[in-house]
Amino acid sequence: MGKDLLKGKKGVIFGALDPNSIAWKVALKAHDEGAEIVLSNAPIAMRMGEIQKLGEQINAEIIAADATSVEDLENLFSKSMEIFSGKLDFVLHSIGMSPNVRKGRDYGDLNYDWFQKTLDVSALSFHKVMQTLEKQDGLNEEASILALSYIAAQKVFPDYSDMAQAKALLESIARSYGYRLGKSKKVRVNTISQSPTPTTAGTGVGGFDAFLSYADQMSPLGNASAEDCADYCISLFSDYTKKVTMQNLFHDGGFSSTGISAEVMDNFGK
Ligand SMILES: NC(=O)c1ccc[n+]([C@@H]2O[C@H](COP(=O)([O-])OP(=O)(O)OC[C@H]3O[C@@H](n4cnc5c(N)ncnc54)[C@H](O)[C@@H]3O)[C@@H](O)[C@H]2O)c1
Repeated sequence: MGKDLLKGKKGVIFGALDPNSIAWKVALKAHDEGAEIVLSNAPIAMRMGEIQKLGEQINAEIIAADATSVEDLENLFSKSMEIFSGKLDFVLHSIGMSPNVRKGRDYGDLNYDWFQKTLDVSALSFHKVMQTLEKQDGLNEEASILALSYIAAQKVFPDYSDMAQAKALLESIARSYGYRLGKSKKVRVNTISQSPTPTTAGTGVGGFDAFLSYADQMSPLGNASAEDCADYCISLFSDYTKKVTMQNLFHDGGFSSTGISAEVMDNFGK
């Protein structure tokens, strides 16, 4: 049972594809904490039919939107406000996709049209979400907006390819828009830099399994799971974090601050 941390709050959650998705776990927990939710995903993701099950489970409407389309976003947010009879208190952007990663293109042989698609889907869409909401005056004062990032924005992880640039851009957009919305509406905007997590997007990156166990051994607290990430998102949507904004918050069991761990040393000593 939840503790009503989000009682009376209304929000849109993007990116619940299947029960492994980070957004799926966030939606379940947000509902458990008393929030009202509208779920959204790309039209193509609707065809898998999984999100409908989640919608039924948490009594949430589902509105398809390609997050790169401003028209789709305008429709999503105006319909959401009708459903809620009011503005939004939180938004989760849990969206990422790189055609270059999907199709296994080498970093020295990227398709630039695909690169632009990576940036549009995984980063610019975050700006589009906030700009659309600002123009529609769709946010309540002290609302909280979150996107999910990865440490490849700061350090090189070769298989992450052009997604590294997308995450760097995403984090930069969070700072710039966080300033703007903080000034105008006391709205906070942050990114969570999450541990590698076994989801559709995560496992699409080359060498994922080896990397998952490497990261686990490099993190004093171990990898943060999707469930852990959902807990962190709830805390950032709640009223307990009203002055946290324009941050990239590492949620990675300590990975980002660890140079080497005893376990990894032992493996090399063998
Ligand atoms: N899994 C990991 O290891 C990991 C680590 C750090 C950060 N993240 C980030 O977490 C977020 C969620 O990913 P996940 O791991 O839960 O995987 P996921 O595959 O379950 O979710 C990705 C979502 O993006 C959606 N999407 C793709 N293109 C879209 C579009 N044009 N419009 C709207 N939605 C679109 C997909 O339908 C899917 O629901 C992503 O931003 C990802 O980069 C994941």
